[in-house]
Amino acid sequence: MTTTDRARHVVLVGLMGTGKTTVGSMLAERLGRPFVDSDHVIEASTGRTVREIFADEGEAAFRVLEMAALVQALAAPRPAVIAAAGGVVLAEANRRALRDSEAVVVWLQAQLDRLTERAVTGEHRPLLDDDPAGMLARMASEREALYAEVAGHHVDTTSRPPADIVDELAALPGVAT
Ligand code: S3P
Repeated sequence: MTTTDRARHVVLVGLMGTGKTTVGSMLAERLGRPFVDSDHVIEASTGRTVREIFADEGEAAFRVLEMAALVQALAAPRPAVIAAAGGVVLAEANRRALRDSEAVVVWLQAQLDRLTERAVTGEHRPLLDDDPAGMLARMASEREALYAEVAGHHVDTTSRPPADIVDELAALPGVAT
């Protein structure tokens, strides 16, 4: 088996509310692979919620846990679908880990007004407590180049049913093989 025909992880990146968890869990089910959500990994390993970690230890401490969760998910031998928390691209080490993993990395993107509607429902998103629309706009301008840097594919999820997006992702080269 060569590097190119080896089954690879599929990693979904993108801002909060782009559908990484919804689409990722459906894709994993379709492919018969494990689904890994990096926020859930952090909550399971620490026994605390993302919100509690932000409140008690701050964002920097959360980012350390986020990096560990990504590295652990990428190291798993069984190919999985990984929903990477929106902030993973901020650290150069994470971007390098994504590149080195040879995972199929897909950037999910959506229009900001849709993101705001979707993302404010998440209890695990303390960064959106005060000014969700403004914060998401700032994150978009800060991160879009970083998502583009790590992703081999880009999918707009703005007004599409998740099942359609899953169909598109399942057909990408390297995903279902
Ligand atoms: C964050 C995204 C959230 C969560 C935390 C911070 C971010 O995950 O990790 O609230 O900085 O973009 P999702 O992208 O899964 O919502």
